Amino acid sequence: MTQQRVLITGGSIGIGAATASKFAAAGYSVVIADVLDSEGEAHAAELVRSGFDVEFVHMDMASASDVTEGVRATERDGFDAVIANAGIARLTPFLSLGEESWKHTMDVNLEGTRRVYQAALPAMIAKGGGSLVALTSISGVAYGWGEHAHYSTSKAALVGLTRAVAVEFGGRQVRANAIAPGFIRTAQSLDEVNSMGAAGMVGAADRVPLGRIGDPDDVADVVVFLASDAARYISGQVIVVDGGLLVKQ
Ligand SMILES: NC(=O)c1ccc[n+]([C@@H]2O[C@H](COP(=O)([O-])OP(=O)(O)OC[C@H]3O[C@@H](n4cnc5c(N)ncnc54)[C@H](O)[C@@H]3O)[C@@H](O)[C@H]2O)c1
Repeated sequence: MTQQRVLITGGSIGIGAATASKFAAAGYSVVIADVLDSEGEAHAAELVRSGFDVEFVHMDMASASDVTEGVRATERDGFDAVIANAGIARLTPFLSLGEESWKHTMDVNLEGTRRVYQAALPAMIAKGGGSLVALTSISGVAYGWGEHAHYSTSKAALVGLTRAVAVEFGGRQVRANAIAPGFIRTAQSLDEVNSMGAAGMVGAADRVPLGRIGDPDDVADVVVFLASDAARYISGQVIVVDGGLLVKQ
């Protein structure tokens, strides 16, 4: 069997980095795309030292040329899976939310996903299909997150994008799904200004039925599952990975 190739945006740290490690361990050839060059290069180098096939490419999801050129430079005969994981969360009260802040979050979280899907789909289809996975959020599917209207809106829009792409490209054997993580311990959630911070995470664990904050690996395992043949009949879905948070009364 030929080796499968996967592109992971925002793969330098956090959930994306854990996902890169899991795909590498599962035998994939991995491309990590990110704006954090030194972290991404270090993570790729560490995986290469462990004997895996991993490379890093600089890619700013807000730049159409970065995305197009980065995909062209690394896709070889087409990616088997594309993981649209890169995302930013900025705290901004709604009445202070200006055009630039709104547009920048949309540009990275939503437009970045559209860009990378559009860049990767032609070769993916030409080679017979593949899997697209977007990282949305519980705040995009069910959970209100005050002072994060731009973030939550971008994440909700990813659900629409996922469903539309699943329908449009299903006939060409492309599956599109999304994952909505709950509270996961990463730089994003530990950010004291823009998110819950370390103390907030401790309190949040009590609200999770499974009694703990999630680790990046908890999400990464589900990403790899959705990309794999084990998920061959799953498309257009959003899988919530939140330790039971959303169903708690
Ligand atoms: N951590 C959580 O609790 C949580 C919850 C729900 C959803 N998510 C989502 O999961 C995804 C991963 O989050 P995380 O917690 O690992 O965040 P993180 O901040 O630890 O990592 C995000 C990664 O995206 C990259 N990135 C940011 N802007 C970029 C850009 N313009 N171009 C390319 N890469 C860029 C960062 O450099 C970083 O490597 C995000 O989309 C996030 O919104 C996270």
